[in-house]
Amino acid sequence: MIEMKHVKASGRSAAEISKIVADPGFGKVFTDHMAKAKYSVELGWHDVAIEPYAPFQVDPAMLSLHYGQSIFEGMKAYRWADGSINTFRPLMNAARFQRSAHRLAMPEPTEELFIEMVKQLVATDKAYVPAGGDKSLYIRPFMFASEVGLGVRPANEYLFLVIASPVGAYFDPAKAVSVWVSTEFVRASPGGTGEAKCAGNYAASLIAQAQAKEQGCDQVIWLDAIERKWIEEMGGMNLFFVLGSGDDAQLLTPELTGTLLPGVTRDSLIQLGTDLGYDTHEGRISIDELYEGIQSGRITEVFACGTAAVISPIGQIKSESRNVQIADGLPGAVTMRMRQALLDIQTGVAQDVHNWMYRLA
Ligand SMILES: Cc1ncc(COP(=O)(O)O)c(C=O)c1O
Repeated sequence: MIEMKHVKASGRSAAEISKIVADPGFGKVFTDHMAKAKYSVELGWHDVAIEPYAPFQVDPAMLSLHYGQSIFEGMKAYRWADGSINTFRPLMNAARFQRSAHRLAMPEPTEELFIEMVKQLVATDKAYVPAGGDKSLYIRPFMFASEVGLGVRPANEYLFLVIASPVGAYFDPAKAVSVWVSTEFVRASPGGTGEAKCAGNYAASLIAQAQAKEQGCDQVIWLDAIERKWIEEMGGMNLFFVLGSGDDAQLLTPELTGTLLPGVTRDSLIQLGTDLGYDTHEGRISIDELYEGIQSGRITEVFACGTAAVISPIGQIKSESRNVQIADGLPGAVTMRMRQALLDIQTGVAQDVHNWMYRLA
């Protein structure tokens, strides 16, 4: 049992909160509280608390600012029709947070600590969990080296925090996004940090994201670092390819080679695809195979998946040498069926046969 101190924030009024949850945007407004735990080599995890959400003072020599020991997670909580608040497969996020911590030579919070901090924060700020449709409370656990110094080594002190923000849809699901295939930059290389959810991976990806925007595209597709050939993932999401159509459609997602982030949504869609009767595989697909598949009509749909957007249809793929529209460029039937099936489980509309949902409040 984790002892957690609670310090109450004066917070927003009920009327202000209702206004925010009615039209939350994405990641602009945060709830009244945050969960916080400290770690030191001497004391282990200590001072675990729910506190008012507030800025904190940072020493200019704080190690994470210089050497980047900083990791995070992303989860969502949904308000169900019965008033309960539920999240999706949080133990997978806890386990990935531990693996990210391990890769960056940081202490691994126990599963119990991770879950308890999320649970207590959401229970405290449950008025911020929006109801209905695509809305949810986005939960952001993160940890960074808080020790002060300039020596390059694993820090001896860390802060682990959880903050939360009510959110609407990340992308408009009715619109297919366009993607830019980056051949100049790579996201991850073998032996690197591609499997970890560490801040540096995102910093390194932003230049390619900026290039994508210059090319008129919404997102980046990453290829492998060695052959610059095998499709890995898209921006902050994993990818699925639909071969064929109707009940005979097959699903393919790039296999986990060590350079992709193992997404919770990806793992769930592999199961859900099978449940819906689609032949679902993990494997390799090269960028040339993708172009050929689209041109021959064998590949009928492409979509990306992740916690923030759930499933995002892809309508167009562009690179230095090609500009290809997928089928009619609109969200496909299999994509939208998978999206609805997953959202129905997450929002408590469909039966949760795999026990994926976890009640927070
Ligand atoms: C690089 C990257 N790939 C894939 C994903 C999708 O992972 P998940 O489904 O766990 O949100 C994310 C988001 O967390 C990501 O940042």
